Formats: sequence, C-alpha cells, structure tokens
Amino acid sequence: MKSDDLFPLLQWYHEMGVDVAICDEPQNRFESKEPVKRAHTHTETTAMAPSNPSTSHPAYSCQTLEELRQAMMSFNGCALKETAMNLVFADGNPKASVMLIGEAPGADEDRQGLAFVGQSGQLLDKVLASVGLDRTKVYISNIIPWRPPGNRPPTTAEVAACQPFIERHIELVNPKILVLLGGVAAKTLLGTAEGIVKLRGKWQSYQPTPTSPVIKTIATFHPAYLLRSPGQKAMVWRDFLTIEKELKL
Ligand code: URA
Repeated sequence: MKSDDLFPLLQWYHEMGVDVAICDEPQNRFESKEPVKRAHTHTETTAMAPSNPSTSHPAYSCQTLEELRQAMMSFNGCALKETAMNLVFADGNPKASVMLIGEAPGADEDRQGLAFVGQSGQLLDKVLASVGLDRTKVYISNIIPWRPPGNRPPTTAEVAACQPFIERHIELVNPKILVLLGGVAAKTLLGTAEGIVKLRGKWQSYQPTPTSPVIKTIATFHPAYLLRSPGQKAMVWRDFLTIEKELKL
C-alpha cells in the first residue's frame, strides 16, 4: 500500500478516537490463529454489575486508598479499562480538606495516569489559585477512572459500574468539602436528573453510604466547559469564593 493510501485510514482512526499507538510493532489481527478476545459490551458490563452493589462491589471492602487503587486495577467490570493506557486514580493531597470530582480522564490524563493534567487541569489550577488553593491543598479524582475513547461522554452503564469506586474513594478521603465539576459528577453523586445550570453554586449534602459522615458539597461548571464558554468563568469564580468562605469558617 502507498503511504498516500494510508492517510484516509489514519484520518478515520483519528475521528474514531484512536489517537495513540499502544504497541511499537503493528499487529495484523486478521492473521491471528488465536480466537479473538472479545471486548466487553455494555450489556455485559451491566450484567456484571452486582445485584446488591452496596455490599458486593469490590470497592466496599477496601480499607485504604492503596487497596482501592489495587481493586480498581484488578476490576474487569468496565470495558473502558481495555482501551485506556492507564488507570487515572487521582492527583493532589489525599489529606486535603477539599476534594474535587471531574467526569473522566482525557488523553493527557490517560498518558500520565493523573487527574486533570491537560488543558482543563491548567484552567482548574488557575481557578484554584484565585482562592489561594493548589494541588497540595486539594485532592482530585473522577467519576470514571479510565479514558472513554475519543473523549466521548461515559455511558450510563459505565458510570454505574464505576460509581461504587468513587463513592468509596470519597468515603476514605472524607473531605470537609466536596466540589463536583460538571453535570456528570453532579448528577451521578447527587442522584438527580437536574442540569448543572440549576445545581451549581448551592450547598448540598452528600453521604457516600448511609453510615458515613455527611459532606458539604457544591457543584460548579466543568473547566472543559469554561474553555468552550469563557463567559461563564465569573460564575465558577463566584462558586469558589463560596468555597473559600466555607473553608475559613
Ligand atoms: N476532564 C475530567 O473530567 N477529568 C480529568 O481528569 C481531565 C479532564
């Protein structure tokens, strides 16, 4: 094949979200003699979800963050793990009073295995700095710990499969204040269908499990949305001033 012929194929891969090569050598999968390992479908992910998630999901037996990270590494109930390069567990200081939750890692986070290190993360750092915070004073994680291909939004089944991990993560960190970045984090953890425009800027109560302490929680716009709609930055700044005031009490 001439290299000119390959360009439309590469372009198609890119549009489908294949933007990193994960092997040094190309593999001709048509020649494989081995039965092809089928990726989990969403139906399988749902079927694998435990019937009583509050007790039988592996997240709930984890007593430390390291145990939780290991449980996530061994988890096979979410097909996103198969296309991602790395598990994105968190970034920042797990002893901080403020914990922020985003949606899912992007390409930079997937490459580095750390939350919010790409363009959205750089904007988040500026917002944090405006109220005297930085990554030594906050802890950051996501609803979904593996990058969805092409940065597509996570499906309901993917969120349901991963939700016990983030709930246990929050319970183990037990922050004074929880900040939900964007609609996916807010709707998932607050258990509401209400949109982020209505939810943002108001204090809410969040309890990871019925026996864990109630955490003061506030939702705000996601930094990726601010990159597309910079006119909304003032709203986010206002939300972070509310957070700053609460931290000083
Ligand atoms: N967007 C998110 O929601 N999380 C990240 O870690 C990066 C971008």
